[in-house]
Amino acid sequence: MEQPEKGKAGMLTEFLVEDHRRLDELLQAAVAHSGTIDDQAYTQFRAGLLRHIGMEEKILLPAAQRQRGGEPLPIAAKLRLDHGALASLLMPTPTTAILATIQDILVDHNVLEEGAGGLYEICDVLAGPEAEPILTSLRVAREVTVMPYNDSPAVINAVHRALERAGYHLRKQDS
Ligand SMILES: [Fe+2]
Ligand SMILES: [Fe+2]
Repeated sequence: MEQPEKGKAGMLTEFLVEDHRRLDELLQAAVAHSGTIDDQAYTQFRAGLLRHIGMEEKILLPAAQRQRGGEPLPIAAKLRLDHGALASLLMPTPTTAILATIQDILVDHNVLEEGAGGLYEICDVLAGPEAEPILTSLRVAREVTVMPYNDSPAVINAVHRALERAGYHLRKQDS
């Protein structure tokens, strides 16, 4: 059986890191003009990040857990808290403070996933020959239904709680 070459990213890593790059570009485009948010870029980013989180939560993490005989990866709990914080931040109408907070979380979060010994490398190693069917599932993952923005006090409270659980704070509004 073919072993992945040392130093060469596996196919799951390659695919998911590329999705991170695409999302980073959309977020950059959304904040490109200081003080204002590019709605079109943000709308694409929001749908794309929700789909990406769904791929990890519904396909990648469950596959890794299955390959470990039902035991979740130790890193999974922290990643899920970050996903919860990110998803909550996508609910209200975007502000520069919300986008800056999303950026803060993604900087740390992507290191946990992309870095050496991170989620993606672990998943490639665990998957072995199963990487190909998992990659196919990731590729065909559906878009997630995106709800209209919601600025209710309940949502804002949920954002603060999710951030606190994941160890983050909402940035101050700078405009
Ligand atoms: Fe993630
Ligand atoms: Fe990711």
